[in-house]
Amino acid sequence: MIALASDHAGLPLKKEIMALLDDMKLEYKDYGTDSAASCDYAVFGQRAAKAVASGECERGILCCGTGIGISLAANKVRGIRCAVCSDCFSAKMSRQHNDANMLAMGARVVGGELARMMVEIWLTTEFEGGRHQRRVDQIMAIEGGADLG
Ligand code: RB5
Repeated sequence: MIALASDHAGLPLKKEIMALLDDMKLEYKDYGTDSAASCDYAVFGQRAAKAVASGECERGILCCGTGIGISLAANKVRGIRCAVCSDCFSAKMSRQHNDANMLAMGARVVGGELARMMVEIWLTTEFEGGRHQRRVDQIMAIEGGADLG
């Protein structure tokens, strides 16, 4: 199950991603917003991030105007590694090296076709582990109060 969320600015892009996930026959759950009315991205980013952090959803995809605000909100939820991407290389590396469990994109930054390509790559790329596991573990240790020096 993939968690989706957006604010009003990200809503059109989220709809494109829903169509892609339908094509890919992948299940998703939309945590809002479903309206073009102005709203606050942190509310929806947190809802989807909580679903990923709890294990209710395996991954999450977020959209706002830039992808920045909603990713910042998601990354405040313990267990979340949300990468804002606007190119396919970063989307791929966010999985291979960072084990990102959420992807954020900006509807005012990327076009629908690029976003679809990024999502396909992001959903099908595995984490490489190895030395990258140590680095991801360090990131997560910061959440627990570790001082990496
Ligand atoms: C909304 O106007 C916009 O600020 C929001 O979608 C996002 O881009 C914030 O980071």
